[in-house]
Amino acid sequence: MSDVVTGLVCAVCGTAVSISQALSWKCPLATEADTHHVLHFENTIEPFRPTDDVNPYLAFRKYLAVDSFGAAIGLSEDERIRIITQANDAVKAVAGTGFLRTPLYRSNELSDALEFTAEGGVWIKDETHNVAGSHKARHLFTELLHLLFAEAAGVAPWTSSTRPSLAIASCGNAAIAASTLAAAVQWPIYVHVPPASATEVLTALTELDADVRVCPRLPGDAAGDPCVLRFREAVANGAIAFGVQGTENAWCLDGGRTIGWEMTEEMGPLLDRIFIQVGGGAFAACVGSSLRSAGVHPKLHAVQTEGCAPLARAWENALATGGARNAGPRWKECMWPWETTPVSIADGILDDETYDWIGVLDAMADTGGAPIVVSEQHVMQAYELVHTLTSVNVSATGVAGLAGLLATRDQIASDERVVVVMSGIERVVPR
Ligand SMILES: Cc1ncc(COP(=O)(O)O)c(C=O)c1O
Ligand SMILES: [Zn+2]
Repeated sequence: MSDVVTGLVCAVCGTAVSISQALSWKCPLATEADTHHVLHFENTIEPFRPTDDVNPYLAFRKYLAVDSFGAAIGLSEDERIRIITQANDAVKAVAGTGFLRTPLYRSNELSDALEFTAEGGVWIKDETHNVAGSHKARHLFTELLHLLFAEAAGVAPWTSSTRPSLAIASCGNAAIAASTLAAAVQWPIYVHVPPASATEVLTALTELDADVRVCPRLPGDAAGDPCVLRFREAVANGAIAFGVQGTENAWCLDGGRTIGWEMTEEMGPLLDRIFIQVGGGAFAACVGSSLRSAGVHPKLHAVQTEGCAPLARAWENALATGGARNAGPRWKECMWPWETTPVSIADGILDDETYDWIGVLDAMADTGGAPIVVSEQHVMQAYELVHTLTSVNVSATGVAGLAGLLATRDQIASDERVVVVMSGIERVVPR
């Protein structure tokens, strides 16, 4: 049986969507004028018993919403496993690696430098060798599987020869991950990037055959990021949202949970705290919901920088208006875009709005965690520490969680066991 995920429900307005509904990216009540809706998955309570497959999408298949979706639209277990395996082989052919559990280990160097005792310490979850060099592909793979399952079961409004293009707005890890997966299955993709994108990233996207669309601000453009405006236009014209924001495509909130399940399986009840760097919030929301579905509760800390910290503000506002849990219906009171231009050397977490804030607040409330806002000095110090003491080639964005640990070290006991996720490789050497 594969029925752990039973349906989707909007965390804002409560609208339910059946698990058998194909292309259920958004709440049916979301409109261009009212984007404040996000579908979350509903799970039954099941003992957590993954299999020991090296591919996380097979090991945790039973707990993935996309597997329940495949079963609900009539694909047999063998067919689902075949599609997952073939897609993973195709990813491997393009990316050099398929999806494999990523390493989780105690960093003795960081543990000593931060004066933890032998009982406690700092554990690194290393996503830098994941497909496309960051954790982003984990989220996108369940969007891809949803598309492949729908196509195979004949419930998609296209065939393999008339596929509409995928679309994303990003000039960083998410764009590279999305283009890698698209290339693997030869699915066309539009990537909307700002004029000032790093040459290294543009070259990588072009090599992956992405249709790169540079988006300057046009006369008459509404407020907001022109890349997002062009992305939304593409989607309105029939493209499929293929990004890592739960508000645009809820199925990114499925596969991201494999990171948390891997940590849970290996360390589970031993863990005291997890620090996650937060941009749009899908990453932290997924780690949070994976912990809950597996029944472990290390404190979750969402980390942002002083230059862009809308989540900590939402946390305070939610506490003041009825509590941090289930704050979705209070979106307007809690979450709005950061007013000043976001700046930080951790430039991958400068989303002016934490789109997936509801899931992140739920997880922090569930686990007794709290948000942390760090200074640029903390990010630089975290970056220096990791590059001096370890061999992980991580970006400033990817160490921002460790900056959260540095900023709060005096409030953490020396025998606690804490995890930081090195979430993305350094692509562009800092100038
Ligand atoms: C390396 C890295 N870490 C963390 C994040 C934050 O993830 P999210 O936007 O889901 O909060 C990003 C997002 O771009 C990233 O590239
Ligand atoms: Zn809704």
